[in-house]
Amino acid sequence: MPKDFVYACAVAAYQVEGGWKDDGKGPSIWDTFSHNGNCALNATGDVADDFYNSFRKDIPLFKNAIGINSFSFSFAWSRIYPNGRGDHPNPKGIAYYTQVLKTAKRNGLNTSCTLYHWDMPDTLYQEYKGFLSDKFVDDYRAYAKTMFQAFGGMCDYWITFNEPKVTCTHGYGPNPEHAPGVKGPVTDWYTCGHNLLLSHAAAAQEHKDAGLKTPIGMKLDHMPLVPFDKNSAEDRAAADRANDFEVGWFVTPIVTGQYPKALVDAYGDSFPKFTPEQSASLKGSIDFLGLDPYTAAWATPIQNCNENVMSNDYPMCVRKFQTTPEGKTIGVPTGSAWNFLDPEDSVYFGLKLLQDRYNTSTLPLWISETGMTQINETELPLDRKTDDQPRVEWYRRTLESVKKLIDEGVPVTGFVPWACLDNFEWARGYTERFGVIGIKYDAEGKGSQERFVKKSAEYLKRVLHKGEKISTQV
Ligand code: NOJ
Repeated sequence: MPKDFVYACAVAAYQVEGGWKDDGKGPSIWDTFSHNGNCALNATGDVADDFYNSFRKDIPLFKNAIGINSFSFSFAWSRIYPNGRGDHPNPKGIAYYTQVLKTAKRNGLNTSCTLYHWDMPDTLYQEYKGFLSDKFVDDYRAYAKTMFQAFGGMCDYWITFNEPKVTCTHGYGPNPEHAPGVKGPVTDWYTCGHNLLLSHAAAAQEHKDAGLKTPIGMKLDHMPLVPFDKNSAEDRAAADRANDFEVGWFVTPIVTGQYPKALVDAYGDSFPKFTPEQSASLKGSIDFLGLDPYTAAWATPIQNCNENVMSNDYPMCVRKFQTTPEGKTIGVPTGSAWNFLDPEDSVYFGLKLLQDRYNTSTLPLWISETGMTQINETELPLDRKTDDQPRVEWYRRTLESVKKLIDEGVPVTGFVPWACLDNFEWARGYTERFGVIGIKYDAEGKGSQERFVKKSAEYLKRVLHKGEKISTQV
């Protein structure tokens, strides 16, 4: 591993903490969304992994079982400001995260702290629809400022937003599967993205004003599209167009200060615009870029496509798919319908694409999440849950691609398996398990909460902590 390489495991507040109204926490949009029965088997994050109470035992377990040198987590904004804003932060919220950070430090781990991983205080949605209003920018700026003041000396890396594209395309628009989950036109995606980007820029400015020297970045979902037929010029052009939506929508503004031209051209006047000051505030607003390259998809053009961009379909006159009518899949299927093992496309091709097309050649890159769930993992007997060879294979092949990138000079400086432990998988509730450490609970999230270490954790420790070969068998 290169020197100073960040090897973390990750969790996010709503997915693990529970304690949904403890110590003055206000409701988030995910509390409301899950309480309204929108998640598999009516699951909620009310208890989740009880990390709110168990972090003192869990963090040393992560360190010992996975061999990490870093811990990646997110703050629940509504623990800090129960209604999203206020004159003073909730002291109990500050005290809680202080303890989490101290526990990580005591265990020799550095920390990467995400300000926003999808759980906006519900009040901000009720008041002005969250990301659909530019009022969000000021509230987020004030929250970020509080966090830089409170934790500036304790967080080693800052991440402003987790997966902005999923935040907007899954939370808003014609088919929202995530909170807040209220239907609207496709243009809502781009309004959401625009306000999110401006909020990021505002936080980056606060970070600078606070005099912090710790790196700040953003963490993007990253599902590169590859031409279905690599020999077809049409498929290649379709993949190129689609990647300006998939990859370029957020990368380009934070690197160059502009939206990708193909995306703006596709939507014309209805696409949001930056003022020159906004562009300047975005350009170069990150010190590192996190990418979550779980999987990839194929692209082929939609023939005779008559400006389908404003419909519910995938934009840019592109058909995105992962399975052919004959049942051929882009990679090895997993327990999540959208996720296939195909790191040669998602990781290797995806990061090369960034370098070639979006001017990121010197920017430090992290694989800020990657991972998978075994098919029907919830129902497997305990020994098969523990001996998770498909997940070992996932990490083995993914690390091969990461190594190839590093060998070719791509500045990959971090690797973060998702997740440290099984957790609440959003709309899928507890029916899909991504942890390299398991939890004894059922598909409804009910059970003893006892932790158990999976083989994948052992594999990662042996390769990334002890320096054994990627081909190591466990
Ligand atoms: C990315 C998200 O950031 C995380 O919250 C989610 O659990 C994983 N993907 C797996 O779907």
